[in-house]
Amino acid sequence: MSFPTRRLRRLRNTEKMRDLMQETILTPSDFICPVFVQENLKSRIKVDSMPDIERLPLDDVIDEVGTISDLNIPAIMLFGIPSKKDDAGTGALGENAIVQKAITQIRKNYGEKIVIMADVCLCQYTTSGHCGHVKGNSIDNDSSIATLANIAVSQAKAGVDVVSPSAMMDGQVFAIRAALDDAGFTNVGIMSHSAKHRSSFYSPFRDAAECAPKFGDRRSYQVPYTNAREALREVETDINEGVDIVMIKPALAYLDLIAETKKRFNVPVSAYSVSGEYALVKGAAIQGWVPEKEIIHEILYSIKRAGADMMVTYFAKQAAKFLQESK
Ligand code: PBG
Repeated sequence: MSFPTRRLRRLRNTEKMRDLMQETILTPSDFICPVFVQENLKSRIKVDSMPDIERLPLDDVIDEVGTISDLNIPAIMLFGIPSKKDDAGTGALGENAIVQKAITQIRKNYGEKIVIMADVCLCQYTTSGHCGHVKGNSIDNDSSIATLANIAVSQAKAGVDVVSPSAMMDGQVFAIRAALDDAGFTNVGIMSHSAKHRSSFYSPFRDAAECAPKFGDRRSYQVPYTNAREALREVETDINEGVDIVMIKPALAYLDLIAETKKRFNVPVSAYSVSGEYALVKGAAIQGWVPEKEIIHEILYSIKRAGADMMVTYFAKQAAKFLQESK
């Protein structure tokens, strides 16, 4: 009888041996935790389609960031929900805008203890719910990037570390970099939603942030999920425009692009495990159809294994707790 000479099971025999052989390590320091803050809100509101996720009043933000930071999560991603929307999206601008107020308070309370990232987009702030300014029947690119640059500068004035444009307008990274530098914010970084796909996985987020488009959809600016080369061209373009961190979004259905981006480009790669990815797991777990903790581990580990250096995930707090308890 002949035996295979290669016996991979040798290295799986004991728990310590498995520890020794583990290739991918996930830690809370890989996470960026989303935080939703709503203007003029009295108390926290649950997001129906995202169990355990809430919109916070400004007064609760400091507490929340404390909880996140105590879990050794190094960064947050702020999203704002304004009390009023208008055509220009003015609720995103100025020191009295909700996100800028949150940034100011967090910076004042936590100094360098947390990396403050903030979403730079228009869809939460415009009556149209689109990520740029509407002109006729379309979304006007160049006036939109001028506004996105203004938003970035006003967040920088409030003390943001990293701005995160998610509008998928052409030239947004260049416009933001130029405006930040002109205003003296050479140290503020840009993490662009570089390859943000037109995805149905965002639908729960639209509940969370009230940003569903009132007409049409986002196909004229987000990347089609059929086009991997186009997605990589978006990444390359952002790098050429001076981005600091690129992002692939969503994560789980796009692991090929995370891996390819990591292989092709020498920049930090982030992945956004989006609201729909969260909702699918939570929904099934609530029914008792999948083991929640194990599924979350497997998904987040797979994003890391694919090549993400960091990930924005709604599981951040929950997973950070698991990771501290055990592997
Ligand atoms: C909007 C924005 C969206 C998300 C992040 N920023 C929604 C969209 O493009 O429709 C989605 C995030 C998620 O689903 O978790 N600029």
